[in-house]
Amino acid sequence: MIYQPLFVFSNAVKLLITVSVIVTLSACGAGEGQGLDEEGNLLLSGSGDNQSDGGGSVGASGNPNATLDWVQDNVFGGICSLCHTGATPPLGVNWSSKTASCENVNRPSGEIDTLMEIDPGKPEQSYLVWKLEGAGPSGEAIVAGQMPLNNPPLPADTIKNVKDWISDGTPGCAVPKPAARSGAVGSTSETAAVKSSFDYPEGSWMQVWETSLRVCSTCHSVQPSNPACVAEIECPPRGLVLEADNYYGIVDGRTVNPLDPDSSTLWNRVSTSDPGRRMPPDGYLPLTQNQLDVIRNWILDGAPLRPSDPN
Ligand code: HEC
Ligand code: HEC
Repeated sequence: MIYQPLFVFSNAVKLLITVSVIVTLSACGAGEGQGLDEEGNLLLSGSGDNQSDGGGSVGASGNPNATLDWVQDNVFGGICSLCHTGATPPLGVNWSSKTASCENVNRPSGEIDTLMEIDPGKPEQSYLVWKLEGAGPSGEAIVAGQMPLNNPPLPADTIKNVKDWISDGTPGCAVPKPAARSGAVGSTSETAAVKSSFDYPEGSWMQVWETSLRVCSTCHSVQPSNPACVAEIECPPRGLVLEADNYYGIVDGRTVNPLDPDSSTLWNRVSTSDPGRRMPPDGYLPLTQNQLDVIRNWILDGAPLRPSDPN
């Protein structure tokens, strides 16, 4: 079994997935073992806070097709799984079973890592929907191709079923509690929530973290979500916690040395051309030039918590 990077947001869920891998393995060939559905997927009953049988019940959207069964049978398990399957699916994103599709819930997108592939309750903030529609809700550009790649876009009513399933809270998937997303707190409309994650003052620590460092906290955290943290590495790596609330621990004169990016290990590790040292490591896309500029300019400006408040 190849270990796919999974990005889920609680240790409980990480455990659950580890358990599900073990259970799925041990149930191989056993046919319909207890707790498995007709496809051999683990039924996550009793362990999540947001699930149903994925079949019958109609959610808040009132759309009877807004179910895991429908989206899996008619979208994810069909055309998407022509490519998004096997040991190394594109960007690690697998849609080939209900279990695989559910793992994309609350998992940061590889292309725009400030968005989840699927953000339950928030279709407008789900990168999957952007990729199906070819743009974000306010015309934001997607990275690379519209999905399904090299095929005509899905019909609008099919996309609507996917969106309704997401806005109903992805019934059928056990949904991990998302990581605290300070940008979205208190937002009432979905579009406002999308915007507000980019609404921190230009040049503030929170804007830098949101734009460039959120991905780091999948490992650099006391509650890491990357399974490699159990399997291969000790987290937080070198004790370095790159969480939004650890500003003073990060701006310590070494990890971040205000005014001097070149003596800041954080800058050196994201900007190095040595792939063996570059953060985030192998398996992640390197930070974009824009994400790098945001970090460098912030350090050059004195690494302020708020721009008006140099240190
Ligand atoms: C012909 C192959 C192919 C098909 C069919 C396809 N994809 Fe993709 N998909 C890719 C490739 C390659 C990438 C990465 C490059 C890109 O984004 O264009 C990708 C990227 C993605 C991403 C971005 C993931 C991220 O982490 O940022 C999403 C979401 C996605 N696909 C969803 C889907 C869905 C949903 C379907 C079915 C409606 C689908 N894809 C069908 C090949 C395909
Ligand atoms: C997949 C897990 C993972 C992710 C994601 C990750 N790192 Fe790391 N990081 C490590 C490991 C493991 C080490 C220790 C080994 C090494 O130094 O290469 C490390 C070391 C570091 C160090 C050196 C710490 C020291 O005191 O010497 C810095 C700085 C760093 N990472 C910054 C980042 C930044 C910034 C990001 C996001 C852009 C990031 N890392 C994302 C795993 C990760």
